[in-house]
Amino acid sequence: MSLLETFKQLHQDMPEKYKTLSREEMEHRVREIKEKFGRKLFIPGHHYQKDEVIQFADAAGDSLQLAQISAQNKDAEYIVFCGVHFMAETADILTDDHQKVILPDMRAGCSMADMADIDQTERSWKILQDTFGDTVLPLTYVNSTAAIKAFVGKNGGATVTSSNAKQMVKWAFAQKQRILFLPDQHLGRNTAYDLGVPLDEMAVWNPRTDSFEYEGDLEKVKVILWKGHCSVHENFTVNNVENVRKQYPDMNILVHPECSREVVGLSDYAGSTKYIIDMINEAPAGSKWAIGTEMNLVNRIIANHPDKEIISLNPYMCPCLTMNRIDLPHLLWALEELEQGNIINQIIVDETTSQQSTAALARMLQTV
Ligand code: 13P
Ligand code: SF4
Repeated sequence: MSLLETFKQLHQDMPEKYKTLSREEMEHRVREIKEKFGRKLFIPGHHYQKDEVIQFADAAGDSLQLAQISAQNKDAEYIVFCGVHFMAETADILTDDHQKVILPDMRAGCSMADMADIDQTERSWKILQDTFGDTVLPLTYVNSTAAIKAFVGKNGGATVTSSNAKQMVKWAFAQKQRILFLPDQHLGRNTAYDLGVPLDEMAVWNPRTDSFEYEGDLEKVKVILWKGHCSVHENFTVNNVENVRKQYPDMNILVHPECSREVVGLSDYAGSTKYIIDMINEAPAGSKWAIGTEMNLVNRIIANHPDKEIISLNPYMCPCLTMNRIDLPHLLWALEELEQGNIINQIIVDETTSQQSTAALARMLQTV
């Protein structure tokens, strides 16, 4: 098969007919197919997915929970992953060879994961080794490509998620004097700061210019922060925090650690997606919250807690456009193709990348 044919097979476009079906028709068909496949089919969904999709998830979770679920699930032959590309890759890495992972829309990528490509990373690593010698351990947020996870695994490092970043950074410092944290500078900075690393011992590495954005003495640097960010969480600003404080002085501000250090520093609480959900579940009736995270999740939390006053920290809300690529028509399309024996949009991580990434993921899953 030519490269073009392979590409076309991997990146098919959804047929037009799915755009004209009613929501009821689509929901009915999804239910029917799920029932037909039973345990052979498993649908994991990230909490940022739309309601029309997450209602069909067999398990909903944050990135850590979804990785754990993938590692445990040995039954399902087909895993239709409702999340973004890097999560589906992780599922493919952690599941057995006979299990097939499908992403309903191949365009569901992650702008943060795209901020660290493997060529840049290899090149940067060489410069960092020349600068610091063998004193640096790489850690990558799971929000990264399989190639980056493989690079980290090969170099003795591990993956982290926002739920376990503190434990993993502590683990890394028990191995080496310095860490390279990629691709999210904010999660890296917020986590290291919480563990007591002063800001002047953290240097931003710009992979586009192959240089540090740092004024001090490099010898002092303990944390090297890759210059990447989440385009959703960067939309929560100091201005948003100040406005909420002014308008609702008794409101608690709760944000995700992918927000900037300034925003996290001014907020009352910061934690992963699971932390945010648990915090609101446990909050007393009548309490007031401004939440800084993805829009679908904030809207769902608002709907599930009519006894609490909850708003988005940014009044214009911040959807993750790539997560939103997975919608009911794409989910149904993937399932109907499966019903006809066709596997579309399969995520396949090659053997070597998979083995090396497994090392990085296993270090994380064993530590937390
Ligand atoms: P968590 O699920 O680890 O909170 O990560 C949030 C996120 O941005 C997922 O893409
Ligand atoms: Fe990527 Fe941010 Fe969207 Fe998560 S919320 S998938 S990190 S762009």
